[in-house]
Amino acid sequence: MLQTNERSRQLTEDALRYIPGGVSSANRRVDPNLTFVRAAGAYIYDADGNRYIDYHAAFGPAILGHCHPEVNSRVIEAIQNIDLIGVGAGDLETQLAKKIVEHVPSAEKVVFCNSGSEATYSALRVARAATGRRKVIKFQGCYHGWHDAVIMNVITPAKRLGQKDVLTAGATPEVIDDTLVLRFNDVEEFTRVIEAHGADIAAVILEPIPHNIGAVLPHQEFLRCLRDLTLANGIVLIFDEVVTGFRHTLGGYQAVTGITPDLTTMGKAIANGFPLAALCGRAELLDRCGPDGDVFFAGTFNAHPVGVAASLATIELLEQPGNYEHLFRLGERMRSGMTSLTGKYGIEATATGFGSVFVTYFMTGAIDSYDDLIRNNAAAFVHFRREMISRGIYMIPVNLKRNHISLSHTDDDIDATLEAAEDVLRLMA
Ligand SMILES: Cc1ncc(COP(=O)(O)O)c(C=O)c1O
Repeated sequence: MLQTNERSRQLTEDALRYIPGGVSSANRRVDPNLTFVRAAGAYIYDADGNRYIDYHAAFGPAILGHCHPEVNSRVIEAIQNIDLIGVGAGDLETQLAKKIVEHVPSAEKVVFCNSGSEATYSALRVARAATGRRKVIKFQGCYHGWHDAVIMNVITPAKRLGQKDVLTAGATPEVIDDTLVLRFNDVEEFTRVIEAHGADIAAVILEPIPHNIGAVLPHQEFLRCLRDLTLANGIVLIFDEVVTGFRHTLGGYQAVTGITPDLTTMGKAIANGFPLAALCGRAELLDRCGPDGDVFFAGTFNAHPVGVAASLATIELLEQPGNYEHLFRLGERMRSGMTSLTGKYGIEATATGFGSVFVTYFMTGAIDSYDDLIRNNAAAFVHFRREMISRGIYMIPVNLKRNHISLSHTDDDIDATLEAAEDVLRLMA
């Protein structure tokens, strides 16, 4: 058990004085609100000197592990040579674009920005420009960033299910109205909506696995239906692979499922924690983002050598044989370990996920879309994680959030995690 959180508590109080709510990103305030001062590989260290095996991974980027020495040294090498010039493309930038085109099935061309939100914002804009239409479809439970068109219907309270659940004040009502929210994995509903409104829809955007609510696995027939009907109706299909890209394979989940979208957004694991995101897809659509196109795409810090060097190093490391096998094997160990432990203690639970992403819901039965997750026992979910944190295992204590394994995690880390989990589950039983 951990000793004290006193120093973390003091630092949180300081932060609260100067930063609204003590955080610069809405999802970062959790209870306990620890302050972390060091990270290395699979471990993070708080201000009181407690060490945690980290499965939060900063919401996903740290696929190689934190402060990866090879990534850091490639970044240092890059910035000893050049910083930001703001003219043309950097040599590393073109190398990186080439790698992405090689790996990601939908990528014929690629542009870089700094966050997943910028990528999804531009993807929707390109889709609207290309189709001359305004409306977009997203799915309940998927998160695509913080801009007006998509900042709605992620972890929606049961009483607001089926309605618009806008997560911010100050959004433009017309933009919100132009987004339709549908049920994930529901072929029948999607078909009905496309039959009625297909001619008004510019884009369909989805996380191919909705990881912002843990891991709801897509039905192949659903993804196939999205592809077929978007093609038949001239709608741009966007896979938001900000979480799945580079985490599940170098080609993203589209390489797993064999369904190729028109546009893909990527971020997070693309640069192992350095700020970089990308929008890629069919050349004809991406060309609209160039200076000869009609969609304005710009940014002072776009393709900054720091993010680009980190991404090149990350992808080169991920290309080495055996890495995804390691991630998938440890993910499977965690899921099967949690399944047998919850079974042993008679706890209603479902351990699921994909590859290196895992989550244990405190519920049983089918999990095909967000509305099924209303049955999850949120109190037990969060309680389990708080108890794990107190045993040195960091899983963010927020309902439905996923965990991530990195290449730095070992079998010993999984053993230690399952041992702590057994202790917690025995007490919960
Ligand atoms: C699937 C998905 N898309 C887009 C975003 C937005 O990315 P960012 O936070 O880098 O703006 C996120 C962030 O969590 C995400 O999970």
